[in-house]
Amino acid sequence: MKRIRGVVAATAILILIGSAHAAGKATQAGIASAHVLATQAGFEVIGKGGNAFDAAVAVASTLSVVEPQSSGLGGGGLFLLHRASDGKQVMVDARETAPAAVDRKDYVDAQGNADRDHSINGPLSAAIPGEVAGLVWIAQHYGKLPLKTSLAPAIRIAREGFKPDARFLKELAMRKEVIERYPGSAALYLVNGRAPKAGWTFRSPDLARVLERVAAEGKDGFYRGEVARTLVDGVRKAGGNWSLDDLSGYTVKEREPITFDYRGWHIVSAAPPSSGGIALAEMFNILGGYDLARLDRVHRVHLMVEAMRRAFRDRAEYLGDPDFVQMPITRLLSIDYAAGLRASIHPDKATPSDLLPPFLVDEQGSHTSHFSIIDAEGNLVAGTQTVNLIFGSGLVVPGTGFVLNDEMDDFALVPGKPNAFGLPGNEHNAPRPGSRPLSSMSPSFVIGADRIGVIGTPGGSRIITMVLEGIFGFIEGQSPAQIVANPRFHHQYLPDVISAEKGAFTREEVKELEAMGHKLSESERPWGFMNVVSRDRKTGVTQAASDPRGDSGSGIVK
Ligand code: GLY
Repeated sequence: MKRIRGVVAATAILILIGSAHAAGKATQAGIASAHVLATQAGFEVIGKGGNAFDAAVAVASTLSVVEPQSSGLGGGGLFLLHRASDGKQVMVDARETAPAAVDRKDYVDAQGNADRDHSINGPLSAAIPGEVAGLVWIAQHYGKLPLKTSLAPAIRIAREGFKPDARFLKELAMRKEVIERYPGSAALYLVNGRAPKAGWTFRSPDLARVLERVAAEGKDGFYRGEVARTLVDGVRKAGGNWSLDDLSGYTVKEREPITFDYRGWHIVSAAPPSSGGIALAEMFNILGGYDLARLDRVHRVHLMVEAMRRAFRDRAEYLGDPDFVQMPITRLLSIDYAAGLRASIHPDKATPSDLLPPFLVDEQGSHTSHFSIIDAEGNLVAGTQTVNLIFGSGLVVPGTGFVLNDEMDDFALVPGKPNAFGLPGNEHNAPRPGSRPLSSMSPSFVIGADRIGVIGTPGGSRIITMVLEGIFGFIEGQSPAQIVANPRFHHQYLPDVISAEKGAFTREEVKELEAMGHKLSESERPWGFMNVVSRDRKTGVTQAASDPRGDSGSGIVK
C-alpha cells in the first residue's frame, strides 16, 4: 500500500471503515478498560442512546473514581477518535501544561543537585490538569448525550463508594509515605493514618461534587469559579505556584494523528506532544523493509530491538511540545530516513547504543490507564490518560476528592540530570510556561481490509514497544485476548539492554540473542495493562480483552 498521510489518509479511513459499516453487520459494542466498573459505565451510557464518545466520557470519568492511582481529574490524557459518519479522525490532546510560574530552579536543591522530591511529589510536581477539559470537549463535539448523563455513573460510584481491588490497595500502600504528608490526601486515602485493607469501601463525595459541577457548568465548572479557587489556594498553601489564570487559560488541542502504513495495514496513532506515534512509525518503517514472517523468532526480535533502539534515540533527541519546539517530523516519518537507519542494522549483531549519535533519553512514569472502545456505528476511541506515577503527586487539595498529577517530571526539568528513572532529558522537552511535557502515551487504531483494532496500554516508555508488539500480534491474526496476554520485551536505547518479562524468551533464544551481542535482563515484575477491542469487518464480530496482568474481566462485548 502506498504511504498515506494527512487528508489522503483520512479519506482512506473513511472508505475502509465506511464500507465495513455499510455492510451493517456490527450490532455490538466492545469496551476494554482497566476496571470492570468503568467498562460497565461505558455500556450504561450506550444503553441510554450514547455513542462511543459518550462511552469514553463515562469510562474515563469512572476510571478517575475507581483507579485514581493511574488517572483522574487531576491529570490529563490523549484521546484518539474516529467518527464513522464522516471518517474524521483526530487526537484530542488533554495533556497537562506547565504553570506560568514554572521555574527550573525549583527542581534543584541547595547543592545544585536535582531535587527529585520536588519533581515527583507534592505541589511543584503537579502540572495544570487537562482531563476535565478533554472530557467536556469530547462530550460537546462528538457525543450525543448531555454531560450529566455521561458523568452520572462516575458521580454515583464516587458518592456511594466501591471496594477497591488488591492492585489499588497495594499501590496505595506503596505511596503512603507521600500521601500522609498532605491532610487532604490522608483524609481521602488512609484510615486512621493507615493504608486501608481489603474490604474497605472507598467513597469520594468531594469528587462527586466536582463532577456534578462539571456536569452542570461544563469546563468552567472546573477551570473557573469555586473549584478553580480551591485548587489554586490548596496548591499554593502546599508550596506550589499555580494561578487562576493557569486554570482559566487551559485549552484542549485537536491534533492530526500520526498515520502510516505497514504491509497493507493502516495505523493511526498519537501525535506530539506524545512521542508514541512518531516512534511507532519509525519502527514500522524500519521493519517494513524486512520480510519478518520468513525469519526465525530470534532474528525477528533482534530486528525489532534494533528498530526500538533507533526510534528511542530520536524520541529523546528531537521530540517535545509541537506548540513550542521545531521537530523534524517529516524526516522522522520518511521511509527514506527509515531506509538509512535500516542500513545501519547488522543482520546478526546488536549495535551498541553508544555507537549511535549521542542523545538525551528520558523514560516516562509508569502508572497510566488505557481504554479502547468500538460501538455498533463503527465509532472508535482509544484513550490513554494519566496522573503519571502511582497516585501522581500524592497531593489532594482538601475539598476536591482527587489527586493531582506529577506530570512535571515528564519534562526535562534539570538539563542533563536524571529523572525518576535515572535518565536525563534535553532542551526539546524543557518546561516552558503553558507547554506540555513529552509523553509516551500511544492510543492507536490498526485498520486492515478485514479487521480493525483499537489498542493501547499504560507503562511509561514501555507503552510504545508494547503497542508495537500488540500491533504485530493483531496483524498476525491474534485475538485481543492473545495480544494482551503475550509476554513483552523492551529496548529504549539506553540503558542498552533488552528488558523482558518472564516467559518472553526461551533459554535457547536468550543464548542466541546474547551471541548477537544483546544484553538481556529478565524483569521481576510484569508490566503494562493493555486493553484491546477488535472488529471483524466481514462478520461484524466484535471482541474485547483486558490484560490478565490487571482486571482481565473488564473487556466486554454487548
Ligand atoms: N506520564 C506518562 C506519559 O505521558 O508518558
